[in-house]
Amino acid sequence: MNPSPQIRFFDNIYRPRTEQPQISFQNFEHGTRVLSEEVECDRYIALYGGHHFHKLYAAFPSTNFQYTEGKNVEIIDWGCGQALATCVLIDYFVEKQIKANIKSITLVEPSSIALCRGYYFLRQMLQPNFSSQTVIRTVNKYMDYVNFNDFISSNSNIKIHLFSNIIDVEGLDLNKLYNLIINSFQGINRLICTSPYNPNRQRLDNFYNLFREYPLVTNKFHSDEAIYKEVFKVSSGRFEKSKITRYERQFTIKL
Ligand SMILES: C[S@@+](CC[C@H](N)C(=O)[O-])C[C@H]1O[C@@H](n2cnc3c(N)ncnc32)[C@H](O)[C@@H]1O
Repeated sequence: MNPSPQIRFFDNIYRPRTEQPQISFQNFEHGTRVLSEEVECDRYIALYGGHHFHKLYAAFPSTNFQYTEGKNVEIIDWGCGQALATCVLIDYFVEKQIKANIKSITLVEPSSIALCRGYYFLRQMLQPNFSSQTVIRTVNKYMDYVNFNDFISSNSNIKIHLFSNIIDVEGLDLNKLYNLIINSFQGINRLICTSPYNPNRQRLDNFYNLFREYPLVTNKFHSDEAIYKEVFKVSSGRFEKSKITRYERQFTIKL
């Protein structure tokens, strides 16, 4: 039997959703709304999937993922929506031939429909190359209500925390999130935070500053440089080279 083909985010998840008619920006609150319908989830990917993909792909080289080769890794995708950030990370691992042993992926998201779709996308993406031993856990909650008991983590695993377009969401209690992380994840934690260059980007700095007081913050990286890449433009209905603004903070803490 032939192995199933490797699903890639850009061509197999994002691009097909740009081919659907009637994509509009209405009622999206810049993509921060908690989605409740399947069609909204498709539109979200068509509208933002390309931007998120390029922002993450530009961010990942600043983390030394070669270090995870052959090591046990846990991924936590916070405010994951449809788990696009983890899909893009798996894409990156496939392309760079990084064979991390992904023990678990934990998806935290209040929209149950987005969460189910995220789970399904990850199952598809993990199938051909990664071990079926990867456990995918879903936590269907607003982040402020997540607690220590929602996670199963081992001190010796490397933790990769993905915060894609979520730290800038107003209303999220960053102090609570900081306390949750330092109390739930012992050992090496890499935090990767990305957002557009919007007025709320300051929240990424505020979040980082909470950890900065920790003596063991290392491998810090910070960027606010825009990138220019092809994404789907709703106004023209075509893929066009566009300016993608970004704000990014990455750092490692040993807890
Ligand atoms: C801009 S989207 C980003 C989604 C995903 N991380 C991505 O990059 O595609 C913001 C997400 O945050 C979720 N959200 C909004 N408020 C939240 C909260 N208080 N706790 C957790 N997630 C929240 C929304 O449901 C939505 O999925």
